[in-house]
Amino acid sequence: MQRMIVGVSGSSGVIYGIRLLEVLRDIDGIETHLILSKGAKLTLGLETAYAVAEVEALADIVHNPDNLAASVSSGSFRVMGMAVVPCSMKSLAQIALSLNDNLLTRAADVTLKERRKLVLVPRETPLHLGHLRHMTAVTEMGGIILPPAPSFYHAPKTIGDLIDQTVGKVLDQFGIEHGLFRRWGGNDT
Ligand SMILES: Cc1cc2nc3c(=O)[nH]c(=O)nc-3n(C[C@H](O)[C@H](O)[C@H](O)COP(=O)(O)O)c2cc1C
Repeated sequence: MQRMIVGVSGSSGVIYGIRLLEVLRDIDGIETHLILSKGAKLTLGLETAYAVAEVEALADIVHNPDNLAASVSSGSFRVMGMAVVPCSMKSLAQIALSLNDNLLTRAADVTLKERRKLVLVPRETPLHLGHLRHMTAVTEMGGIILPPAPSFYHAPKTIGDLIDQTVGKVLDQFGIEHGLFRRWGGNDT
């Protein structure tokens, strides 16, 4: 059994995090540890028809974002990595600067210090230089910035197709097999 931390922060696009949890629930051998920030609980109610309890039910373990004594707060607790989906500019900044005042940012910081995989899906546009600098800092520390930027060569037809493509790209980073989008097969004429 492998463990994966899923952080969902309060930027727009909370549906990306929900879809990731749905997909991981149906994959054997991965125990999900969910941290829903307070901001995420707000956007969840404003952007989706999901109740907090419904989203929490998709995860194996749910952590209180205020509980800095949770298992995932320590590097000695073994996990394969962490994805923050979506990642607000506030959480991005806190991660870039190790401002670990809640469990989501503490777990992300631990993931970086243990040299485990950290994937952030930042959602903001346009970006100012501070946002870009924080993304650079996280990248320099080994994190992966994976914006929810859709491609169109797989001919998406629905919003769900676009969401699945980003979620599939997150899973690709962890080497998790999926069939969420059609891969480019080459145009080798
Ligand atoms: C409806 C709504 C949409 C938001 N969208 C974004 C967004 O796309 N990107 C962002 O960085 N912050 C966004 N915010 C602001 C964050 O929720 C706010 O900065 C919050 O403090 C983030 O805290 P967290 O990262 O701990 O969840 C949004 C807030 C609301 C209420």
